[in-house]
Amino acid sequence: MNARALIHTARALVKGEKGLLALDESTPTCNRRFAALGIPQTEDARRAYRELIVTTPTLGEYINGAILYEETLRQMTHEGVPFTKVLSDAGVMPGIKVDMGTTELAGHPGETITEGLDGLRGRLQAYVKLGARFAKWRAVITPGANIPSHGCIHSNAHALARYAALCQEVGLVPIIEPEVLMDGDQTLQQCAAVTQDVLRTVFEQLHTQRVLLEGMLLKPNMVLPGLACTAPTTVGEVSEATVSCLLRTVPAAVPGIVFLSGGQTAELASARLNDMNARFKLQLPWALAFSFARAIQQPAMEIWKGNPGNTAAAQKALLHRLRCNHAACRGEYNADLEWLTV
Ligand code: G3H
Repeated sequence: MNARALIHTARALVKGEKGLLALDESTPTCNRRFAALGIPQTEDARRAYRELIVTTPTLGEYINGAILYEETLRQMTHEGVPFTKVLSDAGVMPGIKVDMGTTELAGHPGETITEGLDGLRGRLQAYVKLGARFAKWRAVITPGANIPSHGCIHSNAHALARYAALCQEVGLVPIIEPEVLMDGDQTLQQCAAVTQDVLRTVFEQLHTQRVLLEGMLLKPNMVLPGLACTAPTTVGEVSEATVSCLLRTVPAAVPGIVFLSGGQTAELASARLNDMNARFKLQLPWALAFSFARAIQQPAMEIWKGNPGNTAAAQKALLHRLRCNHAACRGEYNADLEWLTV
């Protein structure tokens, strides 16, 4: 393991108050989102959509890295330029989602475990040769009646730590993504308790597996009430609960925390990230940034709809969200920004 290089890359991924763009939807997930908008679910449509994203002008002004799915890591523009080169030329580091998705956890009804450790060492070596600089693994924790169980949290945290150690062995910065889902009717306080438990277990396992904390990033959920919870919650309450949970669980050695959006609206995700940075940045040991997928891409995908004639307008919408989230990393986002065009 080259600790110095890992630390350099991890810091570079959150430098300049920029974030990451997650365009690592698996083929089934991407197809599901395409189907909802009437876009053909073909490899070429996925390639064209990802080309639209990676060729968006000035991408590197707002993000330091882009997380790709394996299919995308190997794809090229219609002119034959590998996406990894387009991104690197724009100053954006290419990363790769390396987990193989979730499956039911035996003996734990309603809970899942993320798969993909078998053969991972070899796959990681291949991804490095293809130009990846960092990786991502997502674990899914479902809150509900009597869940998550200790068995589910522990198994997923253990897998995240094994993945992270393998990444660092080959020089890839691991992004550790334990996602507590926002489906369900849990309150903000219940989400805080579950997220705290999950993060505490994840960092215990990272320590056990000798993962270099300075050479990784954490990608957690914000602490949020479930979508079906009827209690009103303010932006400030979410931001306070999230920061307090992270301060209790994430060691100061970690250079950055890049949130997933998890199904929040694009505007709320920006407002909540902004509030954390505007009010707490000076007290925080790590950078707080974004690694959103839906909260950045959804408006652009809805404009594109598979029509090449909509590419420029879709890129403009993508840049708008990136600009809002870059402002949120600086604590300078406000609702008026939503009315400005890039
Ligand atoms: O694994 C999920 C993505 O990296 C983040 O997606 O921002 O739509 O929750 P999201």
